[in-house]
Amino acid sequence: MKVLAIESSCDETGVAVYDQDRGLIANQLYSQISMHAMYGGVVPELASRDHIRKAIPLVKAALGEAGCEPSDIDAVCYTAGPGLIGALMVGATVARSIAYAWNCPAVPVNHMEGHLLAPMLEANPPSYPFLALLVSGGHTLLIRVDGFARYSILGESIDDAAGEAFDKTAKLLGLPYPGGPLVSALAREGNPSAFRFPRPMTDRPGLDFSFSGLKTAASNALAHAGEDHGAKADIAASFEAAVTDTLVIKCTRALEQTGFSRLVVAGGVSANLRIRQSLTELMKGRGGEIFFPRLSFCTDNGAMIAYAGMQRFLAGERSSNQIKVYPRWSLESVCRE
Ligand code: KG4
Ligand code: ZN
Repeated sequence: MKVLAIESSCDETGVAVYDQDRGLIANQLYSQISMHAMYGGVVPELASRDHIRKAIPLVKAALGEAGCEPSDIDAVCYTAGPGLIGALMVGATVARSIAYAWNCPAVPVNHMEGHLLAPMLEANPPSYPFLALLVSGGHTLLIRVDGFARYSILGESIDDAAGEAFDKTAKLLGLPYPGGPLVSALAREGNPSAFRFPRPMTDRPGLDFSFSGLKTAASNALAHAGEDHGAKADIAASFEAAVTDTLVIKCTRALEQTGFSRLVVAGGVSANLRIRQSLTELMKGRGGEIFFPRLSFCTDNGAMIAYAGMQRFLAGERSSNQIKVYPRWSLESVCRE
């Protein structure tokens, strides 16, 4: 069995082909980042139009890379949410139209399930059950994963997502969108103990997160410390340390609550090296195991949608002919018995 998958929930157009026996056999990605950078963030209408331009050429390139004809494809999967409504509509419309033309089923996929299962594409995938920390631009989630499509959300951000906090702090520091990797690079030149930023919601029980106060703390520090490069590097490092410590504290709590010894960390922010290192040390100290996607599969891509879509397809899921997308779509609502 082979599936072709289309990801278009935000500012990346991704198309991949996954073979049940051989694994990932094509992965094409086009990033719109340079187009949005001058606006300081993603402009939804521009994103939709660019997905229209790129989707079909990427489908052709993915088929070529996989050495496949349309008749070799058993299903067309697509991200149906959560994400930007216009961007999702493009991917859903293209995917459903192709599926109709190729006379095969279309399978909608939840973008966060794609992120969650991205480590399954690696050579040493996690076995179930595990705790998952999903840290992306739009979501921060701690999830109990008992098996494929058996998810319980244990905690989530009550305001900004971790990636959003990185992007907003980057803006304060005068760095372009998307700021996460740039804050991280600047942090390497700074002192993470220069400022003691809060570790939000760690002083009370529970597994929810709140990151919006951190950008205020960074803004206050900037007002006092001045705008020179050294001060900015110290703020970036102290901010990154605060996010990292908060994630470590919450993961420790969730591991204790679930009794699990495996941790999966995925989503754009899981590309952050300090966060990867600290969580790796945490799991080493506990005698447990940690799993990440490769760096290029932390941020949005078609490969993760192809993997999740294949699992959904094998489980018998098909969508009706209606083109429907879900800008907000909880992972818990895609659970199966
Ligand atoms: O998962 P993703 O590609 O898109 C969403 O589903 O939201 O995540 C994008 C987010 C952005 O906020 C970006 O700044 C952040 O991931 N990010 C990082 C790093 N690389 C990407 N944040 C911190 N450190 C990084 N190295
Ligand atoms: Zn994403």
